[in-house]
Amino acid sequence: KVKKNVSRKVKFKVKKKVSRKVKPKVKKKVSRKVKSKVKNDIEKELIFKTRPEWIKAALVNKTKYQKKYSDSIKNNNEFWKKEGKRITWIKPYKKIKNVKYSKTDVKIKWYEDGTLNASSNCIDRHLKDKKDKTAIIWVGDNPNDTRKISYKQLHSEVSKAANGLKKLGIKKGDRVTIYLTMIPELAITMLACARIGAIHSIIFGGFLAESISGRINDCESEYIITSDEGVRGGKIIPLKINVDEALINCPNVKKCIVIKRTGNYINWVDGRDVWYEDLIKDVSNKCEPEEMNAEDPLFILYTSGSTGKPKGVLHTTGGYMVYASMTHQYIFNYKPRDVYWCTADIGWVTGHSYIIYGPLANGATTIMHEGVPNYPDWSRWWQIIDKYKVNIFYTAPTAIRSIMREGDKYVKKTSRKSLKLLGTVGEPINPEAWLWYYKTVGNSKCPIVDTWWQTETGGILISPQTGAINLKPGSATKPFYGIKPSIIDKNGKEIKGAGEGRLCISQSWPGQMRTVYGDHQRFIDTYFSQFDGKYFTGDGAKRDKDGYYWITGRVDDVIIVSGHNLGTAEIESAFVAHEKVAESAVVGYPHDIKGNGLYCYVTLNVGEEPNGELERDLKLWVRKQIGPLATPDIIHFSPGLPKTRSGKIMRRILRKIAANEHDQLGDTSTLADPSVVQSLVDNRKNI
Ligand code: WT7
Repeated sequence: KVKKNVSRKVKFKVKKKVSRKVKPKVKKKVSRKVKSKVKNDIEKELIFKTRPEWIKAALVNKTKYQKKYSDSIKNNNEFWKKEGKRITWIKPYKKIKNVKYSKTDVKIKWYEDGTLNASSNCIDRHLKDKKDKTAIIWVGDNPNDTRKISYKQLHSEVSKAANGLKKLGIKKGDRVTIYLTMIPELAITMLACARIGAIHSIIFGGFLAESISGRINDCESEYIITSDEGVRGGKIIPLKINVDEALINCPNVKKCIVIKRTGNYINWVDGRDVWYEDLIKDVSNKCEPEEMNAEDPLFILYTSGSTGKPKGVLHTTGGYMVYASMTHQYIFNYKPRDVYWCTADIGWVTGHSYIIYGPLANGATTIMHEGVPNYPDWSRWWQIIDKYKVNIFYTAPTAIRSIMREGDKYVKKTSRKSLKLLGTVGEPINPEAWLWYYKTVGNSKCPIVDTWWQTETGGILISPQTGAINLKPGSATKPFYGIKPSIIDKNGKEIKGAGEGRLCISQSWPGQMRTVYGDHQRFIDTYFSQFDGKYFTGDGAKRDKDGYYWITGRVDDVIIVSGHNLGTAEIESAFVAHEKVAESAVVGYPHDIKGNGLYCYVTLNVGEEPNGELERDLKLWVRKQIGPLATPDIIHFSPGLPKTRSGKIMRRILRKIAANEHDQLGDTSTLADPSVVQSLVDNRKNI
């Protein structure tokens, strides 16, 4: 199938171009091992047919999926009317949807006359038959630190926290900022906010002062919840110090609630700072949940755009809960006894929807891990899987690649036999990493769901359902119920059938964001002004002849080389398919003749040394896989890439370094390891 991409014409050209001098070397280097690896892994197994045992275990089969999907599109109102009942409503809804998508006016409302409470949907409704079931397994950074919280205990803890917040005067509609690492109180306080109708705005514990104050001021939040310090990978994260610094620029913050995690000394501001343990000491462990309208806000979560300051993505209560719980059940094929683990941080939308709201609404046992995959060593995640008999495991391609880079031995030490289903999210997964995940982590028996979605979408929009849809490594496959993707070409015309273009969604779904907090015009401009009547995702996508979707990356990551579109993801995937490469990031740089050239950052596997020969081999390798157009111009070997703490490669920085504009790098404070940047600058390749 790789062969298919390299058309006969291109092949011929490659032959012509590879001069005699280079040829023998290439032959020598692309060893038989590599060749057969690529052939076996990628060519033969590009389609993973749904296995009989997957079908048996699944909630839906192919026929059911197709019928339900076409129903969901044709009779959209009826479909969501029925599905909305999966949630417990205080006052049942009569209205289903009230949506207007246009270039100038956007209004999105679901179940607008119904009332409910999100926290009671995650807790109270399970007390009748699941009160002693474990709701959250908290796994500390230190393997000896662990805690199981039953639904009953969660009810009591959340109610106490809610009463504590009330005692400070926090009420329905108030914005409460939460800046924590992955400790149980993060789950407890977010659910406590939901219980009293306060809107939580969670800031990932990896952000620093400037990002914190910006987010606090943007949503005019008067309260912040943090801890003395956080612990991750054996290191201390000075949360309170960061908050103190941020609050210098937030004159409106009245109270800072501090949870004790390490007990180390911290600075204290009398009158403003309050210990969490004092706040909940004498309060009742019962707190009546606030009756919320379906369209009352549940949370704000900031996401960065291609321009401007981060946008406060606003999600509301009813539709979000319906969508998070439904996607969690169907896509992860969730069954009542499953132990479910999503490795994301709750500071991202993945953690909101698929550690907390979705799984808890479904009465699941959900794992919250405080640490990182390589602490105390690279076996950590697989040990957790064995210890807690995890059945469903959901992580990110970047994590998979970094673990894969260390070799198989850390994985093979463990059994992982409890695993039934694997998932990925966050970026396109290259087939090489997909296959490794499938074979090594999943012991070649677990299907993988590659789930495509966004902070803005609230839940997964495109993903396999494992009993119904054959898998193709690298493709998020097919849309979820009620989701109608459309692909728009360069001229703004919708492509029917196979083709490539910009990915839009043509009708609303209940989990969709409702507005950019405080700036509805920005919401319209960012997502609806491009294509009339459609939500524009900012991603490019291909639809193949089988109707499968392949996300090609952000549209702003496309590089035009000699007038041709090249997706960075495609080139990066080619690099990573080489046996010596762990990771790569490709950016464009101004090129006199081609318009843009390809500047490729490449991280090698542990134990591999960069040298001139390997550089030449890699150029030929990529050229051979995609075509001459994709021949890398520059290869810059680098031991690391600049990543945010959520694992996203910051291409903005890579583009600046490639263009020799490293005096204009902008804000690098959100990087997981800012020192990577200096070493990249120092070792920049001259163009
Ligand atoms: C962007 C959204 C949704 C939770 C995590 C990220 C990219 C996400 C996939 C996937 C290809 C993906 C898209 C999207 N993305 N999942 N399975 N395959 N690309 O949330 O930070 O809002 O980022 O992540 O480019 O637009 P986010």
